[in-house]
Amino acid sequence: MAILVTGGAGYIGSHTVVALLERGHDVVVVDDLSNSSEASLERVEQLTGKGVAFIKADLTDKPALDAVFEEHTIESVIHFAGLKAVGESVEQPLRYYQNNLISSMNLLESMSSHDCWDLVFSSSATVYGDPEILPIPETASTGATNPYGRTKLMIEEICRDVAESDPRWRISLLRYFNPVGAHPSGMLGEDPNGPPNNLVPYVMQVAVGRRDQVSVFGDDYDTPDGTGVRDYIHVIDLALGHLAALDHLPKGCDSYNLGTGNGASVLEIIQTAASVSGADVPYEITDRRPGDIATSLADPTKANTELEWRADRGLEVMLRDAWNWQSKNPHGFNPPE
Ligand code: NAD
Ligand code: WQD
Repeated sequence: MAILVTGGAGYIGSHTVVALLERGHDVVVVDDLSNSSEASLERVEQLTGKGVAFIKADLTDKPALDAVFEEHTIESVIHFAGLKAVGESVEQPLRYYQNNLISSMNLLESMSSHDCWDLVFSSSATVYGDPEILPIPETASTGATNPYGRTKLMIEEICRDVAESDPRWRISLLRYFNPVGAHPSGMLGEDPNGPPNNLVPYVMQVAVGRRDQVSVFGDDYDTPDGTGVRDYIHVIDLALGHLAALDHLPKGCDSYNLGTGNGASVLEIIQTAASVSGADVPYEITDRRPGDIATSLADPTKANTELEWRADRGLEVMLRDAWNWQSKNPHGFNPPE
């Protein structure tokens, strides 16, 4: 019996595969490598001393997905695979709807036809849009502000409907806040294609000298220092959240916030990154980024109690591990020749 990890070569997926292997699970990864490289799985194998069954396939290819379930006995699935860049989703909405929705529907269909009913899905705090309540509980109203976020909301709804239709389903929708950091070994981490969209990888590329300075998107928000506040969560804590979710799958379908409940501003991130790395992190204040909100903060109480999970790594550890990864792999998994 194995756990199928879709998108397991990616950033969060690869860290979760390590945690699963360390827990003694057999793991099958399906990934089309559209935003990752097989090098991450080679590092996973080096780190754990264990093998991973890897199938390069696109989940929108239903026969290829069915073949995975026929070749392997899958007991449960963690579904990370998806496109995730907000700006790109505004420019290419159909690509996002096609990829994220078709993949997820194919997966649900292949699972049920192969008698596999346990699913953990990567949702996102983006489903809360501009939140009315802080910290945000799972009961807060939802409403995404871009096509990427809408794919997450739609997949959540599809999962709820599917779970209604057959009592055998157990589906956990995990709403991640802002995942950052890297494996403490420095062997695994986030390796974005092109200029990073997210703050921490951008800050790290400035610290390592690949980029000149960080643009701080606005200092006139209603926050303590005027810059955006987010609930950053260490990717290792997030990976462990998936193991906890597998151990505590609900009957039917339910959602859980995975965050720390603590906020950090853009300037705090820059200052902490400079202090843990010892590098200069120059920045300039620029206009707000369209679509950004002032503050996003999880209420993680439900995951703390029902999943018996807590994110306990603090900001310094997150940024120290991100720096360890970046400084050891300044160009990511596949450095230029
Ligand atoms: P990632 O891009 O590193 O990993 C996603 C993986 O899915 C990649 O390896 C990519 O090659 C693969 N993939 C994409 N489409 C596929 C398809 N059709 N078939 C097979 N493989 C496919 O991203 P990540 O940061 O590890 O995110 C994992 C999941 O978590 C995504 O669903 C993302 O939307 C969600 N999420 C991420 C964040 C974040 O900030 N990183 C926050 C909230 C939610
Ligand atoms: C964090 C803060 C920016 C870059 C995004 C997605 C969300 C989720 C996580 C997947 C904000 C500021 C950023 C920069 C900056 N992904 N910033 N300069 O926007 O909270 O969330 O990633 O589900 O859906 O929207 O994360 O890291 O982009 O930004 O000042 O170069 O840093 O304004 O306040 P965000 P982020």
